Amino acid sequence: MTATPLTATDFRHALGQFATGVTVITAPRPSGPGPSQIPGQAYGMTANSFTSVSLDPFLTLVCVDQRSHLLPLLKQNRLFGVNVLKEHQQDVSIYFARPDQTPEAEAKLGIRYRWTPAGIPLLEDTLAQIVCKVVASYIAGDHTIFLGEVQSADLFPGEPLLFFRSHYRQLAPPRQ
Ligand SMILES: Cc1cc2nc3c(=O)[nH]c(=O)nc-3n(C[C@H](O)[C@H](O)[C@H](O)COP(=O)(O)O)c2cc1C
Repeated sequence: MTATPLTATDFRHALGQFATGVTVITAPRPSGPGPSQIPGQAYGMTANSFTSVSLDPFLTLVCVDQRSHLLPLLKQNRLFGVNVLKEHQQDVSIYFARPDQTPEAEAKLGIRYRWTPAGIPLLEDTLAQIVCKVVASYIAGDHTIFLGEVQSADLFPGEPLLFFRSHYRQLAPPRQ
């Protein structure tokens, strides 16, 4: 019997069986002239490829699409924020999966930032705010893997937003 070749749809469905949390990777936009370079503005990208890598040293990774607006920001800035979304933040996840990000749209969604002394924007009202320093990057097909050494981690109470089979989900109550 000949195995049927795996299609891109099959691949997506197979990987969609793996439930994840949802993060927004944040970085400052570079200051300077130009319409997309407003000083003090943040850029965010929804990502569920965020993974723990090593305990000694504290390493994580995130995979970023080569075409993403975030990619040049991570290459330039070398520091980024990882913001773990709470269960009620599906609209925040959808917003940061779009390239057209404006302060007006963020105000409507109630999105607020806390800026670290090093100039990294972190999303308020999330489950965790983690700051990582890029220590290596690897081109992997149509994505780049950024290896991030954790500089700080702030944790907050709440429940996570989940992503499973291309849909947002919430945790069921724990079994007794
Ligand atoms: C739940 C979810 C998870 C995602 N995870 C990733 C990811 O890990 N890496 C990635 O490059 N894009 C991921 N995306 C897609 C990006 O959020 C987004 O589509 C892409 O950055 C387009 O915007 P841009 O061109 O401005 O960067 C994800 C989208 C969603 C909704």
